[in-house]
Amino acid sequence: MIAFQTLFTPLNIGNLVLKNRITLAPMFLCYGNSDGTVSEKTIEFYARRAKAGVSLLAVEASAVDSKGIGLSRMIRADSDNYVKGLSKLAKAIKDAGGYAVLQLYHGGRYSQQPIAPSPVETYLAPEKKIIPKEISIDEITELINKFGEAAERAMMAGFDGVELHGASGYLLTQFISPRTNKRNDRYGGSFENRIGFPLEVVASVREYIGKECLLGYRFMPDEWLPDGFTLNEGRLLARRLEKAGVNYLSCNAGTYESWFLPHIMKVTSKPGYQVDITHEIKKEVRIPVFANGRINTPDLAEEIIRKGKADAVALARPLFADPEFVQKIFENRTDQIVKCANDMLCGRQTMQGLDAVCSQWKKVTA
Ligand SMILES: Cc1cc2nc3c(=O)[nH]c(=O)nc-3n(C[C@H](O)[C@H](O)[C@H](O)COP(=O)(O)O)c2cc1C
Repeated sequence: MIAFQTLFTPLNIGNLVLKNRITLAPMFLCYGNSDGTVSEKTIEFYARRAKAGVSLLAVEASAVDSKGIGLSRMIRADSDNYVKGLSKLAKAIKDAGGYAVLQLYHGGRYSQQPIAPSPVETYLAPEKKIIPKEISIDEITELINKFGEAAERAMMAGFDGVELHGASGYLLTQFISPRTNKRNDRYGGSFENRIGFPLEVVASVREYIGKECLLGYRFMPDEWLPDGFTLNEGRLLARRLEKAGVNYLSCNAGTYESWFLPHIMKVTSKPGYQVDITHEIKKEVRIPVFANGRINTPDLAEEIIRKGKADAVALARPLFADPEFVQKIFENRTDQIVKCANDMLCGRQTMQGLDAVCSQWKKVTA
């Protein structure tokens, strides 16, 4: 008998059945080729984790529009030219026994050509203050379509579905947040108007991929800023996304403008720091909800699922640090798991356009 039985209980999600509750959270690795195509290194990364038993792998943020690219060497899905490479990636994940979704991304005010609902200055760092261009109604319509087209490409490439990047302060969140959306038209002002853009993106994607394919949503339950999107609004949006046909919510609170505030950094340094907020969202919906954020031991992951706080866990850095994390649980070798050191070396590398590496890899043995 395996020790972590709850973690290895199958989960129904859309039309799929996940073999266990451990999923890979999307993680931009900076392994892509400079032209936006998938590299062999990208394929190896995902295939290794799928082979070790991860049930669902969300492939990192992938651009739906050439103007929406954030960091260089990001994977792209904004033209049919990228389908060939994406197909190799999807096949490698599926051949290794995992399900694959592609995360669809537009950076909005954090893009290389910054556009946003409103020209509100970004606050990443004094030298990085940018005033984005206000997006026009025509551009909004075009982008809604581009999300749909990119989703269709992911399906052409053989992915099981897509995950919309509706968190971390990127374009979809810039519309829902009252601090970045100051529009006076039908996309701004009231809660109903602010959630209009993400809901139209969901509808467009659903139309392009059909009813059968998995449609996940990377969901920001709370912006963690005083003038931002609040948990009360998050609860309402979760229900609306479910009604719109989203199959799961992967909860990730905060944005780049809140994560580095000292009081938030205190919170995010704690294991399982998003479990309670995820549970609040889970109470609102029937679709599966994933917990994210420093779920760094199998015991914590098991406890979250056993206590019904979430339906699955989405791990980024723990599976980056130890590719065989799941296999070691399955084989009762949890003492051999190499733990994420929470030093953010991976993130610091990618921010500089360098390949993600882990300070703990020297300890990894399969
Ligand atoms: C290097 C790095 C890249 C990331 N890239 C993405 C991404 O592409 N899309 C996304 O939704 N989240 C991204 N995240 C956030 C993670 O998915 C995850 O929510 C966060 O790291 C906290 O979970 P963890 O403690 O399991 O790593 C990234 C995080 C890191 C460290």
